[in-house]
Amino acid sequence: MAKEVLGVLCSGRGTDLQSIIDAIAEGKLDAEISVVLTDKPDVMALKRAEKAGIRNVCVNRKEYGDRESFERGLVSELKASGVTLVVLAGFMRILSPYFVHEYSGRIMNIHPALLPSFGGAHAHRDVLAYGVKVSGCTVHFVDEGMDSGPIILQAAVPVLDDDTEETLGARVLEQEHIIYPKAIQLYVEGRLKVEGRHVRIVDR
Ligand code: GAR
Repeated sequence: MAKEVLGVLCSGRGTDLQSIIDAIAEGKLDAEISVVLTDKPDVMALKRAEKAGIRNVCVNRKEYGDRESFERGLVSELKASGVTLVVLAGFMRILSPYFVHEYSGRIMNIHPALLPSFGGAHAHRDVLAYGVKVSGCTVHFVDEGMDSGPIILQAAVPVLDDDTEETLGARVLEQEHIIYPKAIQLYVEGRLKVEGRHVRIVDR
């Protein structure tokens, strides 16, 4: 069977990307990353890809007038690299219906909270402000809404009284690095069956 070809989209430091690179190197994830794309220049994610010998390209959002032309730039890079699964790993932009249709059912995202609670760009801040006792992370398929697609895997962590965004973020990130490669491997194995909002994990 042909290997799943991943295109990973990042905006910053790229630790989720690193967890995927490491899982492949350790034989826990049977896929290849053909390209890493970022929307900003000079970010750590590009350096991590470079170090791992992975093609990496900045599709600089600032060089494109509107969102659609920017996304056409992303899609043309993904197609040129033969990508079959788009993996959003700390990519801090909302994708338009155009992009989502191009890779319909083949885009995954990780969000640093237990969706459907605390979506958006400031999950840890919002969790701490609300006073919930448990948070975590969610891997989900991407649909046209924000943080709204069918949920694949989640992991929970406690929220402690003296947590800051940094301490909570670090605790959540540890779990992200475990569940994201796992979720991608389940996809690679053809074990994710999407039925409406539900993602069933089936035996092969
Ligand atoms: C991660 O916590 C990820 O869940 C979050 O950005 C961080 C990226 O870290 N993503 C979102 O908030 C998406 N809305 P990283 O750059 O070290 O992988």
